[in-house]
Amino acid sequence: MAVEQHLEQGVLTLQLHRPDKKNALTRAMYSTLASALDAAQDNPEVRVILLTGGSQCFTSGNDLQDFLQGGALAEDSPVFHFMRALFDCGKPVVAAVAGPAVGIGTTLLLHCDLVYVSADAYLQMPFVTLGLCPEYGSSLILPRLLGMQRANALLLLGEAFSGEQAAVWGLANAALADGPQTLAHARQQALRLAEQPAQALALSRQLLRAEQREALRARIHEEGRLFAERLQSAEARTALLAFLQRRKQAVSC
Ligand code: COA
Repeated sequence: MAVEQHLEQGVLTLQLHRPDKKNALTRAMYSTLASALDAAQDNPEVRVILLTGGSQCFTSGNDLQDFLQGGALAEDSPVFHFMRALFDCGKPVVAAVAGPAVGIGTTLLLHCDLVYVSADAYLQMPFVTLGLCPEYGSSLILPRLLGMQRANALLLLGEAFSGEQAAVWGLANAALADGPQTLAHARQQALRLAEQPAQALALSRQLLRAEQREALRARIHEEGRLFAERLQSAEARTALLAFLQRRKQAVSC
């Protein structure tokens, strides 16, 4: 299974498991994640969701092969279903990030309640480099959180940054020494959240998110529309093919 699920002590762990492709997300994986998040809403045994890729790699983002071969992205595409399910998730979500967290691997963190990273995690949003555009609210949240210049460097140049840097900037709650420690700490914090009074927790999450909620929902929708358009562009198709071509050459060398 490319997404493993495990419920213990009120914490539902969703673990990406596609190590040969650095946990790149396929349409099937988005669907599984979205269904699991939706099902968690109605399951009183689930108090908290822990999202992780294990101690080596969070995710290399959307599967680039899927981008090339998957056809046009429609409103009901699995990736948009996943984005909506996480955005509207009624239970707190904790992320444990080690290794690469690229593309949606970084932007999804903006919608988690608590984020723990390994100091040497590799975060990057190379949308423009791939001929695409920012997604999942990143064009709204990042300038507010980091200031326009830093957001420009991350989104226009696709500059990569470490887990340590993410914690300094406030994109993560803390940077831990390595992958196993990150997982252990995130799990401990998830268990702490699971012990909080559930109704007070749910209400407080709503209050904390209320201010920019509808503006953010509208931006996510607009970014999604433009992203889907960009995906069909010659710029994007050339960039995606170039990445996959480079991989083939590397393998045959
Ligand atoms: N989609 C599909 N396959 C991917 C992938 C992706 N997003 N990211 C990595 N892979 C595959 C590689 O093609 C390679 O497969 P192969 O061994 O069959 O050739 C395998 O995963 C390992 O990747 P590799 O690049 O060798 O790992 P690395 O540790 O050197 O680098 C990354 C890891 C994540 C930094 C690098 O793979 C990368 O930049 N991937 C693309 C990320 C991306 O652009 N995502 C989309 C953003 S919108």
